[in-house]
Amino acid sequence: MRTYVVTGAASGIGAATSDLLHGQGHRVIGVDRHEADVIADLSTHAGRATAISAVEEITDIVHGIVPCAGIAGLTGVDPAAVVSVNYFGAVDLVQGLHARLAAAEGAAVVLLASNSITCQPGWATSVADLCLSGDEAAACAEAAATEAVHVYPATKAALAWWARREGVTPAWAGQGIRVNAVAPGLIATPMTDRLRDDPELGVFADAYPTAIGRPGRPGEIAALIGFLLSDASSLLVGSVVFADGGTDALLHPRSPERWVT
Ligand code: NAI
Repeated sequence: MRTYVVTGAASGIGAATSDLLHGQGHRVIGVDRHEADVIADLSTHAGRATAISAVEEITDIVHGIVPCAGIAGLTGVDPAAVVSVNYFGAVDLVQGLHARLAAAEGAAVVLLASNSITCQPGWATSVADLCLSGDEAAACAEAAATEAVHVYPATKAALAWWARREGVTPAWAGQGIRVNAVAPGLIATPMTDRLRDDPELGVFADAYPTAIGRPGRPGEIAALIGFLLSDASSLLVGSVVFADGGTDALLHPRSPERWVT
């Protein structure tokens, strides 16, 4: 039995991942704003500190972390909150639990990127760069001057880049902690239900093609996450794995675009 931390565990991909890991006999510490083992608001420093302390009280060893908590850049959403929840709510938690991961002597982190980083035009690379600099105030200020819809892919690109940049370092790979990311396409969850209902952005919800003719299912992303957490993926380090029913390959037959800047 291993111990995993899953944020955003109350809904969608986080809930499916928790179900999968429970089903495999593992212990899951769910973190969310509601309906979770640890109730915390990951948009704030205080909330992240609360979550880290609560996990540390529960366990000395963490075998894996899957930060699923995230918000979409829908109409009316504060763009700065997209930065704080999606990027810093994930990276701060993972960094804060580094010692617990290292104690596992073979742990894994799976970050939630998105195929919006290659498929959605016009997103704010400056926000992604500021996220990676670690300056949350500056990243939030830059985001505040940008539409939330263009901030969302920036936070996801920053997570993918963080997985590549940090995943190979002595602090992570050198400590036996494999860091990877998944880049899902449109997955049928409450988040994408809300996207469909958005008065301005709803028309884009089903605009991207797939080769399989349907949205993804949360369990299909959970299965990939389960693989990336497991020893079966021992050679994957700093990888960003697209799981989007073929959307990115349809749009860019030779190689992913835009997230390489
Ligand atoms: P969801 O909306 O169904 O679930 C997100 C969960 O995060 C909710 O339980 C919510 O309470 C929690 N959360 C939000 N803000 C929080 C905060 N400040 N503190 C603590 N918890 C918070 O979303 P879904 O679709 O399951 O997405 C999960 C992750 O996957 C997100 O990071 C999302 O960006 C990413 N993703 C989703 C895709 C999709 O099509 N559904 C595609 C690509 C990436």
